[in-house]
Amino acid sequence: MSVAPRAFVVGWPIAHSRSPLIHGTWLDNLGLAGSYEKLAIEPDAFPAFVQTLRENGFVGGNVTIPHKAVAASLCTELTPTARRLGVANTLWFENGRLCGDTTDGAGFLGALDQDAPGWDRRRALAIVLGAGGASRAIVDALLQRGFARIIVANRSVERADLLLRQLRDSRCEAASFDAAEHATSRADLLVNTTSAGMHGQAELAFDIAALPDHAVVNDIVYVPRRTALLRRAEACGLRTVGGLGMLLHQAVPGFARWFGVRPAVTPELRAIVEADIEAAQA
Ligand SMILES: NC(=O)c1ccc[n+]([C@@H]2O[C@H](COP(=O)([O-])OP(=O)(O)OC[C@H]3O[C@@H](n4cnc5c(N)ncnc54)[C@H](OP(=O)(O)O)[C@@H]3O)[C@@H](O)[C@H]2O)c1
Repeated sequence: MSVAPRAFVVGWPIAHSRSPLIHGTWLDNLGLAGSYEKLAIEPDAFPAFVQTLRENGFVGGNVTIPHKAVAASLCTELTPTARRLGVANTLWFENGRLCGDTTDGAGFLGALDQDAPGWDRRRALAIVLGAGGASRAIVDALLQRGFARIIVANRSVERADLLLRQLRDSRCEAASFDAAEHATSRADLLVNTTSAGMHGQAELAFDIAALPDHAVVNDIVYVPRRTALLRRAEACGLRTVGGLGMLLHQAVPGFARWFGVRPAVTPELRAIVEADIEAAQA
């Protein structure tokens, strides 16, 4: 008798994670046997947790803050993206070997491809605001997609400089918000990867009035669903993409590996996760 695949999301803390809702909805809708559980594991206990995954009956799972770099170091095989970025958020077994991938960049691209088809027709200049973990994955994804130039603008320029040193690609340059504002008239894409504009945080202070008509504005913040930045972009007549799509699309590769079916990001799934976010805010 075959055993139903058992997957997990592990982090510290983990209470806020929406991954169980996303994977649980796919399992139900596809009628698949399997489970996906949420595990709070402290950093000190994380290596032992990973080393005993198989004997505890897991086929793999997701890894979130603060374990992503350690997870990558514990894998026998990494995808090229995970190797470049030095982090893993998705683990699975292949021929008995522990494998790792990092899927935020694929989630970012998947959301834009689905929500703004043709967004990458012009790839001369992207402006990415923020220089944290999400920015790194997104700049890497934009480089892979063939952008000719990427300005990484951060409140503290030193952190943008550091990110560029890690990425080591001459197509990227670091800038202050002020300097990046002067380049907006030539940008094809603007992405906010800062936490500014998130529920309970300060608004993002960045002028987008000079963006050209064809520019796409993506805010990866997903609480609230329509941030002030997206509303400003819509008022300028620009195409916009919110952050929920990235959250959902980054989950697709893991589900496919653990449960054997590539799931779809449907309007029904979006509605379920949006309702959960709204209920948590109420
Ligand atoms: N949609 C998705 O699937 C998805 C995935 C990952 C992350 N996210 C969201 O992306 C955001 C960033 O995540 P992260 O992991 O990259 O965080 P992080 O590593 O902590 O980086 C935070 C970034 O936000 C900047 N920042 C914070 N407050 C700011 C403000 N008031 N004005 C300007 N910049 C500000 C920081 O600038 P300094 O360096 O100057 O402090 C830094 O660049 C979070 O809101 C997170 O929820 C969404």
